[in-house]
Amino acid sequence: MVTVRAPATSANLGSGFDVFGVALARPADVVRVERADETSIDVTGAGAEFIPTDPAENTAGVVARELDAPARIQIDKGVRPSSGMGSSAASAAAAAVALNELYDRGLTREELVRVAAHGEAAVSGEAHADNVAPAILGGFTIVTDDDVTRMDADLDVVACLPETVVSTREARGVLPEEVGMDEMVETVGNAATLVAGMCRDDPELVGRGMGDPVVTPARAALIDGYDAVESAARDAGATGVTVSGAGPTVLAVCRSGTRQRVAGAMVEAFGEEGVDARAYQTEVGTGAEFCR
Ligand code: HSE
Repeated sequence: MVTVRAPATSANLGSGFDVFGVALARPADVVRVERADETSIDVTGAGAEFIPTDPAENTAGVVARELDAPARIQIDKGVRPSSGMGSSAASAAAAAVALNELYDRGLTREELVRVAAHGEAAVSGEAHADNVAPAILGGFTIVTDDDVTRMDADLDVVACLPETVVSTREARGVLPEEVGMDEMVETVGNAATLVAGMCRDDPELVGRGMGDPVVTPARAALIDGYDAVESAARDAGATGVTVSGAGPTVLAVCRSGTRQRVAGAMVEAFGEEGVDARAYQTEVGTGAEFCR
């Protein structure tokens, strides 16, 4: 039996749509695998009732098929589905790392990113490695069509999850089909600034680099209370605020020592808009890890 914990992740970080991602130290999924003749899946934890247990429709089940590694798979969800924190990616990442070990397949972590991305693609219809890459590799990741670059990053964040659901399909449906030259130049400048900030562990630069004139404004409109939550977070010490993945989680990068205040301000601001929310006070963390 092999047990692996894989973290929640936050994709995009504003200016890096479909490219940037970070592993979050909390929350996480825990996946346990045992050899079996056929794959079966059992799910417990946050939002378990919304997760298919048919192996063909579950990211972990598709990963088992890709690795030719039939198993009894038990998934304990810490990452709520449709939260914008890479819920299906966490399960796919943990399953890939666990099954690679269980069946001694010898794949590298980078190869496992591709396997887990296939799992994501088979289930969601879209292959984004921007969540599975940080879930497996940890830290800050930059994903392109055929490559992943990762780096360590030391950054405090708050991920504030409102009790609403935004599907990735809906959140992709509101995106503009074309981007103007001015917006492109602004986005490239911001993305470059963000990478420099990650290299220097500088929350001011990272926050400034999260600015995004294209994707975030379109998606923020799907999240009741977003504008109030953003300004409350900034007033409390956040340097940058954006939609985490496809939403509805709102991600805030925090100056050192402000995380608790930012978390409280975000939950309160959602509450004033009549939306229940919880905040994870977390930081950029490690990728999938074996549990003893
Ligand atoms: N980059 C993706 C998006 C992440 O924002 O739509 C969700 O899979």
